Amino acid sequence: MALLNEVNSLIDRQEIVKSLQAIAEKYPNEVVFSTSFSYEDQIISHLILTNEIPIEIFTLDTGRLFKETHQVLNTTNKRYKTKVKVYFPNYEAVEKLVNEKGNYSFYQSLENRKECCFIRKVQPLNRAVKDKKVWITGIRAEHSANRQEMTQTEWDEGHHLVKYHPLLDWTTEQVETFVKENHVPYNVLHDQGFPSIGCEPCTRAIKSGEDMRAGRWWWENPEGKECGLHEVNEVSDERSEVSEVR
Ligand code: ADX
Ligand code: SF4
Repeated sequence: MALLNEVNSLIDRQEIVKSLQAIAEKYPNEVVFSTSFSYEDQIISHLILTNEIPIEIFTLDTGRLFKETHQVLNTTNKRYKTKVKVYFPNYEAVEKLVNEKGNYSFYQSLENRKECCFIRKVQPLNRAVKDKKVWITGIRAEHSANRQEMTQTEWDEGHHLVKYHPLLDWTTEQVETFVKENHVPYNVLHDQGFPSIGCEPCTRAIKSGEDMRAGRWWWENPEGKECGLHEVNEVSDERSEVSEVR
């Protein structure tokens, strides 16, 4: 936990750019930012790239993303003259999964869904954050009840690093205003009722009045709606329930 205290001492809640600069300077090549090209993630990428902060930006391409998400990847690379690093799942694991259970196994059970998320997201994430000290995410409290209990920084025991969520307390209005005012490229699905965007077969638009994450894994109970990226007990390949059933 010494690392968490150290990172906390570098972070100023009101000054995201300064905080990002301070942690990048303190831990060169050991700070990464994961983007799914959501509104929130695009803001963090914008801040990192326009201020030339040396933090690696990566994305996890599950092989099941929306074409609109790929379009934002391309636009972002072009606009900021960068190359967001893309991680793919292990092809042998994907082939085994699809050959044994088909392309839509995730609709059949929670176990199957977590297995797919594990292969397509969690394992590649484990590679992306290996040996890093700080992992930055675009998580916002407004997205779910779970996330309202989170703090801006937290110790991730599974990955042995500090997670930092600079936009945790931002409101939707703040996010939308920033994107608009700064002409940040964004996923057009946000204009079509998708506040939270994951894989294409597992994300639908929400209706007015529904929770922001109601369109994610919509056929499941609300409590189980995490893919494992942000669940400490599922990060390790050895300790995962899912790896045991494979
Ligand atoms: S998820 O766990 O339900 O998929 P969510 O879509 O809310 O997560 O995104 C929260 C944060 O997780 C994002 O801001 C981003 O940092 C990270 N994240 C989610 N999906 C991806 C992805 N495909 N690639 C990289 N980072 C991702
Ligand atoms: Fe598989 Fe759906 Fe998880 Fe994407 S969100 S990895 S398609 S189960």
